[in-house]
Parts: sequence; C-alpha cells; structure tokens
Amino acid sequence: MQLGFASIIIFLLLVHHATGTAMNPTSASTKILGDAKGLAAGAAYFITNNPDGNFIVAAEIGTDGELTLTRAVDAGGLGAHGLVDPITPEALFSQGCIKASSKANILATVNAGSNTLSVFNIDPNDPTNLRMIGKPISSGGEFPVSVAFNKAGDMLCAVNAGAINGVSCYSIDKQRGLMPLPNTVRSLGLNQTTPATGPPGTAGQIIFTEDEKQLMVAVKGTPPQPGFFAVWDVLDRSLSRNYKHISLAQGVLLPFSMTVIPNKNAILAADAGLGFDIVDLADAGSRSRSNRSSATKIEGQGATCWSAYSASTGNFYFTDAVTSLITEINIDDNLKPTIVKQYPQGPTSTTIDFDIASVADKDFIYVLAANATAVYAVSLDGPGQTTNIQKLDISGPACRADLAIGADSFIIISYYDSYSSLLDANNLQGMTVYIKGQDNYYPSL
Ligand SMILES: *[C@@H]1O[C@H](CO)[C@@H](O)[C@H](O)[C@H]1NC(C)=O
Ligand SMILES: *[C@@H]1O[C@H](CO)[C@@H](O)[C@H](O)[C@H]1NC(C)=O
Ligand SMILES: *[C@@H]1O[C@H](CO)[C@@H](O)[C@H](O)[C@H]1NC(C)=O
Repeated sequence: MQLGFASIIIFLLLVHHATGTAMNPTSASTKILGDAKGLAAGAAYFITNNPDGNFIVAAEIGTDGELTLTRAVDAGGLGAHGLVDPITPEALFSQGCIKASSKANILATVNAGSNTLSVFNIDPNDPTNLRMIGKPISSGGEFPVSVAFNKAGDMLCAVNAGAINGVSCYSIDKQRGLMPLPNTVRSLGLNQTTPATGPPGTAGQIIFTEDEKQLMVAVKGTPPQPGFFAVWDVLDRSLSRNYKHISLAQGVLLPFSMTVIPNKNAILAADAGLGFDIVDLADAGSRSRSNRSSATKIEGQGATCWSAYSASTGNFYFTDAVTSLITEINIDDNLKPTIVKQYPQGPTSTTIDFDIASVADKDFIYVLAANATAVYAVSLDGPGQTTNIQKLDISGPACRADLAIGADSFIIISYYDSYSSLLDANNLQGMTVYIKGQDNYYPSL
C-alpha cells in the first residue's frame, strides 16, 4: 500500500501527539526554549493564549537591547480567542493581557479561557525565571483581557470583556498571591458574549490614572455608536459603585488602548477605526468641552490598536495589525498631536501588542509580530529615528520545545528536523517588559 503525503502527515501528527502527551505530564510547567546569556537587563513576556493551555513566553533583554528566548512557563489556565469572522491574530481585542511590575518583581497574566488571573514572582537575577505565587484566581467575570498594576505593584485590577463584564481588583501578597479586594467587582453592563464578540463593542484596556485616584477602561464603539471610557473612583482600595461614562471627542470610533500622557492629566487611545484619540481628563464629566480633546485620522490605517510612550524620545508610538506600520506621534503642551513618521515592519507580519523598555538610557520597542511568529526589536535612536535591530523567531524554538502555540497547529515534514510545526499564530497575544532595578522596591524572595 502506498501512503499519500497527507496520510504520512496525519500519521506523524498522531505519533507526535501520543508521544507529546506521554512526554509532557502536566507537572512539566516550564519548557526550555534557549540558553540564557546571563547578562540580562530585564525580560520581555507575552502569552501563547492557547485554548489547550496558556503559556507565558519569556525572553531575556540583553544590555544591548537584544532578545534571547529562554523559557515558556505554564500560566495555569487556558487561552481563548474572541469571536470574529474571519479568525485573525489579536485574539483578545485588548492591550495589557500580561503586565510586569518592575517595582515589585511581579508578573500578572489573564487566562481568558479559564476566567482566571495568575501572578508570578520574577527573579531579578534571572528575569525569565518565573515562579507562580499562590494559585490562579477567578477574574470576577468572564473572558478577562487586560490587567493593570498600581505604581507600588501591590494592587492589580483586571477587566473582563465577556458575557459577565466589568472590573475587579486584588491586593498582591508575596506568599499567597492575589487576594480579592472588597467592593471592587464592578459591572460594565455591556451586552456581550463569552468569549467576547468583537472587536467593536468590547472592553480593550484597563489602567490607573497617573494620580491613581481613578481606574479607567476603554470600551470600543459599535458604529455608529462611539466608544467611551468607563471611570471608577479609587478610594481606600475600593471602587465607586458605578462608573462615570466619559464621551470622547467628535469622530471617535473604537478607542482600544490607553496610554497616560505624562503630567497632562490626559490619555492617548489608539483608535482601531480611525487612528488615535486624545482625551483631556479635565473635561471628563463636565459639560463645557475644551477643544484639547481630539480624534485624529491616520491616513491609510487598518487597525491602530496598541500604544506606548517613550521617555527617551518624548514621543508616542502605535502599532497597526493590518498595515504592520509603527506610527510615531508628538503631542505638544496643548495636547495638539503631530504625526512624526511611520516605520514599515513587513506587510504580512501583523504587528500587534508592544511595549517600550529603557535599557542603558536607550529605549527599545518590542513588538509581537504575530503572523510572522516573531518578536521584533526596534531601537528608538531619537525623535523620528529608529533602527530595526532584531527579528526573534518564536516558531522554531517553540516547535523544538513542543510548545503548541495554536490549537490546530499541525506538522510538516522537513529534511532538517524530524518534524517542524506550522503554527497557528492567531492566539499569540500581549507584550510587557520588566527592567531589573527599576524601582526595585521589594526584596526578592
Ligand atoms: C444583545 O445583543 C444581541 C445580539 O446582538 C441582541 O440580539 C440583543 O437584543 C441584545 N440585547 C440587548 C438587551 O440589547
Ligand atoms: C479653542 O481653540 C481656540 C483656537 O482655535 C482658542 O482660542 C481657545 O482658547 C480654545 N478653547 C479652549 C477652551 O481651549
Ligand atoms: C500571514 O503569513 C502568511 C505566510 O506565512 C501569509 O500567507 C498570509 O497572507 C499572512 N496573513 C496576513 C494577514 O498578512
């Protein structure tokens, strides 16, 4: 009997799954992806968000800003993909699904398919060495998509975007993990499903305001209904019962992310349907609108969803999942924005979540290029100046370590390996950085 190529693939798939199961008992919570270089300035983390088991992928950040993939650590729950047709990368419709506190040496992630949150201790001397603290805990709702630390790193809040949607907050105990805070489970009241149906009409990111007196969530609009910010007052670690609904400027569509504009009492939101929105919080709730809030179109944009600030250039950056362009903007003292420059990252790479790290006085963008199953490192050399310094492959090391990124990854025959897997990159999500010694307030355990 002659076996067709497809049969051979299926056969290898079955063998692979069988041995994979035998070789990977659930206790094997860490997979080695590469060798640590040992001179880490910090680390970058994202999640596989795999519905069969969510893993945190950790890469060392070297003193030159380059990444070295080292470990994948079981996040203690399942990933999930939001409902959207067709299925594409950007599974959670969010920014901030995983966050590190450099001050507290703590990493927090959502497990969107288990409705839980997990926290890990980061070893400052080996920042990809993660140890779960306590057990994963209920997120207080369904389909958690984004988390936010306070500045001290001893309080965490999360937003749920599913059928039971809203926020919840926790104190962080260094031995026991997340401890639910009373009077912090608050509803958003969105008409949603679990997993969420989006991106329109979903919660996108949660942040504390700069003075930490308020907690805010960006909610994307369902055109023609515009998006808005939901804002709770934070008082003695509890939240006001109801949120204030902040309408944004005329023209706002799908505010997705939220980045604090330092010292301006204002927020920048990437707007997936437009470009970006600037929100002057001095206006919030008042009837008299200043004209400092604005909604700005980025010509030719596809899905501008993620944003971050670079202290070294003084400018703000966005990524776009469709055009795979990074856009740099400047915001002046009157909150007036100017587009500085755009930087192509490769048309099919699908640049999604990113974060900015300061390494030896220089800032670097680390962006998850989901469809390329890679992380790109871009150095910010000054305003209007960047250099692409690295494309870190994820799929090769993930395959060799038997780390499944997608539920339906399958196997192809390669002459070089006994097998190599073609990965479903649609679930990969998140990007956060930890920098050693940056406000290293808590002694490591
Ligand atoms: C919620 O959304 C569903 C699906 O779009 C719709 O059929 C239903 O009428 C909505 N319910 C409310 C209360 O708006
Ligand atoms: C609005 O903009 C005009 C200039 O276009 C300026 O003179 C005015 O002061 C602004 N109003 C507010 C409230 O900022
Ligand atoms: C993703 O990458 C594959 C090649 O690996 C390409 O065929 C596909 O068009 C890309 N998707 C997008 C949305 O760019």
